[in-house]
Amino acid sequence: MKHATSLAQIGLANLETIVAAARTWKSEPHRKHLRDKILGMLFFNPSLRTRASFEAVMLRGGGGAIVLDAGNNTWKVEEREGAVMDEDRPEHLKEAVPVLSRYVDALGVRTFAAGADDDVDHEDRIIRAVERYSTVPVVSMESAREHPCQGMADLLTIEERFGSAQGLPVALTWTPHIKPLPKAVPNSFLLTAAARGCHLRVAHPRGFELHPNVIAEAQRYAGASVGSISFTQDQAEAIRGARVVYAKAWGPATAAGLPPESVRAQSDWMISPQQMNNASEDAVFLHCLPVRRNVEVAESVLDGRWSCVIDQAENRFHVQRALLEWLLN
Ligand code: CP
Repeated sequence: MKHATSLAQIGLANLETIVAAARTWKSEPHRKHLRDKILGMLFFNPSLRTRASFEAVMLRGGGGAIVLDAGNNTWKVEEREGAVMDEDRPEHLKEAVPVLSRYVDALGVRTFAAGADDDVDHEDRIIRAVERYSTVPVVSMESAREHPCQGMADLLTIEERFGSAQGLPVALTWTPHIKPLPKAVPNSFLLTAAARGCHLRVAHPRGFELHPNVIAEAQRYAGASVGSISFTQDQAEAIRGARVVYAKAWGPATAAGLPPESVRAQSDWMISPQQMNNASEDAVFLHCLPVRRNVEVAESVLDGRWSCVIDQAENRFHVQRALLEWLLN
């Protein structure tokens, strides 16, 4: 049984097929290849784009979706192996997931990183447990380690703009935020762009390193795709001449031992028009959204000529439609 919970699991050849299909099918908004299929969606964390885009894919494709907010319109769900369930979580994943599998054709799960320990987040325990207990394909709607649908939508947006991602100079830059955020989005962008041959320059302050295993995986992909990855603590250096500027806030590397407040402290890392003017003349600005205006990114960038964030969010629909058709048919 196929699952789509990480780029490695989807496979690099399938990544190419799925993104190409998404691009082709954009002119067929009412494609009905998911007729009578049901997607169950289990959210442990909030969402706007992921929830609406997956639901729209199913409805427009002739199927339907069941949306469950764990602990809100369902019982609170326990995921710990061997838990003594005498607290406020009366339902275990071990029953919830196989039961849902009897009702639906695929199961989407959103579960954010806890952020307390990067090594633990890297293990992605909840989505791995869902895969174990599910009898239908599982789709990541963002997990502790990766957000593969976001990564594919990012790639589609780049390929639409530039024809191909191969060889493009791309900046992935950390931005300030009011609180530490998970690393799934930068992880997936790094992995996906590396797999498609981009020349990535990743900028973040000291102490905000991504997990070494994610970097190693991305380096392997870059080696195979004739791309490259370099790291810098100089945002201007990363952005200079870039044709894609991808901005995202993420929390400190837990190994660095920085206090969570440190994510607020670097306001000079906010993306400004001055920074964008150092990028290539035809540069595009990407962000997965939601974005905190004038904290992460100046609103003149978000409202300016560089911004592709709305197209990027639309592309979630197109890649997820292609992904579900690949997964279910
Ligand atoms: N980018 C993204 O996944 O958005 P949501 O958190 O709103 O789903």
